[in-house]
Amino acid sequence: MKAYRAALLRFDSDGQPVYDTDGLLLTAPDATGTQRVLACGAWQALAHLLQTPEAQGVTVQHWPGKLIAPGFVDTHVHYPQVDVIGSPADGLLPWLDNYTFPTETRFADPAHAQAVATVFLDELQRNGVTTALAFATSHPTAVDALFGAAQARRMRLITGLCLMDQNAPDGLRNPPSAPGRTDAAEHSLAQSAELIERWHGTGRLGYAITPRFVPTCSDAQLRGAGELAARYPDVWVQSHVAENRDEIAWVRELHPQARSYLDVYHRFGLLRGRTVYAHGIHLDDTDRALLRDTGSAIAVSPTSNLFLGSGLFDFEAAQRCGHLHGLASDVGGGTSFSPFETMKAAYFTGRMALESQGGAPKPGLSLKPAHLWWLHTAGAAQALGLAGTVGNLVPGAEADFVVLDPQATPLLARRTAAARSLDELLFAFIILADDRAVVDTCFA
Ligand code: GUN
Ligand code: ZN
Repeated sequence: MKAYRAALLRFDSDGQPVYDTDGLLLTAPDATGTQRVLACGAWQALAHLLQTPEAQGVTVQHWPGKLIAPGFVDTHVHYPQVDVIGSPADGLLPWLDNYTFPTETRFADPAHAQAVATVFLDELQRNGVTTALAFATSHPTAVDALFGAAQARRMRLITGLCLMDQNAPDGLRNPPSAPGRTDAAEHSLAQSAELIERWHGTGRLGYAITPRFVPTCSDAQLRGAGELAARYPDVWVQSHVAENRDEIAWVRELHPQARSYLDVYHRFGLLRGRTVYAHGIHLDDTDRALLRDTGSAIAVSPTSNLFLGSGLFDFEAAQRCGHLHGLASDVGGGTSFSPFETMKAAYFTGRMALESQGGAPKPGLSLKPAHLWWLHTAGAAQALGLAGTVGNLVPGAEADFVVLDPQATPLLARRTAAARSLDELLFAFIILADDRAVVDTCFA
């Protein structure tokens, strides 16, 4: 058993924050050695548990003045794009062509893939992210490198081979099984199945079938991905949808029979639970209802949407419809690994509402700090189909948590000291904190 004492944040089943200024978190290993939450609550109410025979010899790790909170969950991030952050472009498609695809091509080199996997996981960990759904590249050795590195630090990580058999450069397009053959789609799917068998469910690792986005995938590849998703129902599916207007026009040219961009995925059997699409900016209510009814989720990527000028995610429409959604960094279109930056950009996005999208002007939303935080922890876990497993500190959950310092910088210290409510405290972190506020990131 392990015991931790500090202020404590978690969420109830309605997504409302529960906070103790002096809290106790008790964890114990399950049969596989994963630490799980035994109890979590006010020190006063739980301290007696430290007197039980099972707690004999347990020393309490005490962090006075610090805050224990659930580890953050990043619902969409690209491991090979660590070195793409901050690459300016006129929009998504030239950004992919000029920076992203050339950078990802380098991951054919296993030593490079290995080195960047370590940097990538270090960045997530330094920023308090304990679960990530990540894109890798189209190179199986790069997928192996990331899984291996995550396993070594016992991190909960979901990734998969990037499927992209058209409209991408040599060295990044999925290759055929042998030179001169034309079986790239089948080969990429066979490689995916092999990787599922090797990694999915190993420790805390999960596999995601990963068609990059409609323009880079042939019909045969999308159809095969849908068949694979049916064959392995507890494996994840990740892709991109309705991010950018030029991208959407291209999809319409490629699939004129589809009702919408999202409908292309639907027709290929790629909407179900544990399916996560990044962006989802330019959707209509029919698309949103389809997401809700199929249990599919949107990975909201606000720093990326602002950086690439893609548009503003409609939080109000998502809430009204009730489809799953959670926050994501989307590095390297996104500009930061820090969940604080992502929550802040999500807040700004809400403030701007739809004024800039040509819709009827709406007054800006003021998303509540605790709701933003939920969208990056328990709500993000729910979007991934992992509610109760990660993203919250409730009995039975895996004990992934962060220790945050409200005094990490002079300005943060002033503002948090003056906070009169939990909302003000959380908002001070969202607006002013960065990786310096993350004292420790603890994996179960
Ligand atoms: N659409 C297809 N690939 C990508 C990518 O790497 N980043 C973003 N933001 N959108 C994409
Ligand atoms: Zn992305």
